[in-house]
Amino acid sequence: MPNLMEITDISKIYGPLKALQNITLFIPPGQWLAVMGPSGSGKTTLMNIMGCLDTPSLGEVILDGERLSGLSPAGLTALRREAIGLIFQQFHLISYLTALENVMVAQYYHSMVDEREALEALARVGLAERARHLPRQLSGGEQQRVCIARALINHPKLILADEPTGNLDETNEALVMEILHGLHNAGATIVTVTHAPEVARHAERVIVLEHGKLVSDQYQTHPSHRPAPQEGGGACRPAGPVPGPDGRAAADGDASGVPGVAGAGEAAV
Ligand SMILES: Nc1ncnc2c1ncn2[C@@H]1O[C@H](COP(=O)(O)OP(=O)(O)O)[C@@H](O)[C@H]1O
Ligand SMILES: [Mg+2]
Repeated sequence: MPNLMEITDISKIYGPLKALQNITLFIPPGQWLAVMGPSGSGKTTLMNIMGCLDTPSLGEVILDGERLSGLSPAGLTALRREAIGLIFQQFHLISYLTALENVMVAQYYHSMVDEREALEALARVGLAERARHLPRQLSGGEQQRVCIARALINHPKLILADEPTGNLDETNEALVMEILHGLHNAGATIVTVTHAPEVARHAERVIVLEHGKLVSDQYQTHPSHRPAPQEGGGACRPAGPVPGPDGRAAADGDASGVPGVAGAGEAAV
């Protein structure tokens, strides 16, 4: 099966500063990759390039067979909406919209607003009872789960999460990691950017950046790694419902998987 993403010899240069230097990285479908490194090492820059939010100064990125350098800004945006789900440390929820409406904004960008599907997306992350709450009425963990429901609305082929548990306590970190495990086991390709080893240990492969260079690339086997099924590996359509926060499948889950939602809330990106 071809790689979902092929990054070949990319650099990102800001004047005298090389935020990324000659990075080559191939990501097969279904892989869970953690990107680690100290602050300022280039993690977010790399994730933004993977997520079609930014372009490299040099080098080539191919996502799902599409050469990104050949796309216009509008083409990049379209590909991002279609193929990528973004989860941010800072949540980026719209403060005056309810959880349900925040998910529906993402649907809007796919011209498929459907309240029932949005409610199902929230139910799959254990938030059916919180759908009508505003972000400020939700805990950090609940807000992050709204972001995950929003990121999954388009069945993304690639889920990118930048420090997804950076603002969460241990309990909520565990809930979010459990949801990511559910997605991974269902075949999703996931990249988590983190400086926390306890988050990186969930991934099957860990790369480390230092001063914009890729200094380590290792596969790991450990108790928290549950291998993804090998078939599929395409769009994020889990064969079964994503586990709820308590690890059980959402009660109203169906076999079609996570309902369609948009890439990251466009309002935030
Ligand atoms: N738009 C920008 N203009 C100039 N320098 C930038 C810009 N974005 C990031 N950088 C620099 O690139 C380096 C890597 O940043 P970043 O990717 O955010 O690191 P990390 O996410 O690992 O903390 C840092 O030195 C940062 O200051
Ligand atoms: Mg960063």
